[in-house]
Amino acid sequence: MDVREIDGADPELARRYWELGRASELAYRVFDSYWPWQTAEVSLREGRAGWETHLLGAFDGDRLAGVGMLTLPLLDNPHLAYLNVNVDPAWQRQGYGSALASQVEELARERGRRVMACDAYAPPGEETAGLRFLLAHGYTVGLEDAMKVVELDATEPGWAALEAEVAPRTAGYTFVTWADVVPQELLEDYCRLQEAFFELAPLGEMEIEPEVWDERRVREREESNRNQGRQEVCTAVLAADGSMVGLTEVALNRHAPHRGFQSGTLVLPEHRGHALGLAVKLRNHRELRSRFPQCRILVTGNAGINLAMNAVNDRLGYRLVERCLELQKDL
Ligand SMILES: CC(C)(COP(=O)(O)OP(=O)(O)OC[C@H]1O[C@@H](n2cnc3c(N)ncnc32)[C@H](O)[C@@H]1OP(=O)(O)O)[C@@H](O)C(=O)NCCC(=O)NCCS
Repeated sequence: MDVREIDGADPELARRYWELGRASELAYRVFDSYWPWQTAEVSLREGRAGWETHLLGAFDGDRLAGVGMLTLPLLDNPHLAYLNVNVDPAWQRQGYGSALASQVEELARERGRRVMACDAYAPPGEETAGLRFLLAHGYTVGLEDAMKVVELDATEPGWAALEAEVAPRTAGYTFVTWADVVPQELLEDYCRLQEAFFELAPLGEMEIEPEVWDERRVREREESNRNQGRQEVCTAVLAADGSMVGLTEVALNRHAPHRGFQSGTLVLPEHRGHALGLAVKLRNHRELRSRFPQCRILVTGNAGINLAMNAVNDRLGYRLVERCLELQKDL
């Protein structure tokens, strides 16, 4: 067995890396959320703004048996590193995963990182190879997220009643929506809300510090989204004085237009209790339907301990499909 770094700019190796990851993921994920080749190809070649990425391959002769990825945040969280490992289903349980993980951990240590974080997915009430593998390697669960899916064709007819219900409670607030590019006049507030997200969202035991956002980070991310075919639909809540007090974002991909990812939703604590969480999501779901009618389903993940967000998602018809365990290990 030979474990070595892979050059993501090598088109043939990048394709093999993507294909192996896909075969591994499709074998155990309840829901296919694997990234499209057109996006992976650019991302593996160019990396991600604000992140240092290393790709590794475990080879048996010429045959690629497993792949690993180390990602290091460069703009915040200097103690943290992220691990991802996939082994070809036909080659599992032969030590390839362990060899990849230990090399990824070694690279992270060399770069001065102290905590390695990693996600493992499993059906509700079940364990998977990935979870057992990480537990066997000294990782502990810091947070459990419920992964949920909503079918938009089936649930849209119920939105009007929900909108009528929240309207009297959200009087005094306005909603602004946009796609892909954050309007310049909202940029400063948008950055503050992104930072607040990590202070306010339940993180369980995970040793993650708040992110640091500025205009450069936002614009570089938008440019990399454009290059990789990623798209976004966002809605912000503005208070009477014009300040942003809530935000929700859906991420889409033009190369997999049937699905979207409902990512962060936040309402600042002083403005909670006015049904703004449900209202802002309803507004964004409407915007999504008009801009991206091909999108049929949304996937989301939220912490089991986040009662407010779970209640909102239940009302929108999201149903549990699997769990995402966020694990970490002190290096
Ligand atoms: C997790 C994964 C990478 C492990 O790869 P692998 O090459 O099979 O792992 P190893 O052979 O090095 O296994 C090392 C140890 O992990 C544990 N383990 C791995 N697979 C397991 C399974 N299916 N059931 C129970 N324990 C398991 C065992 O303790 C194993 O040691 P043992 O074989 O001596 O009992 C592989 O199953 C995979 O690709 N899964 C899908 C992707 C994923 O979940 N990745 C992890 C999060 S990034």
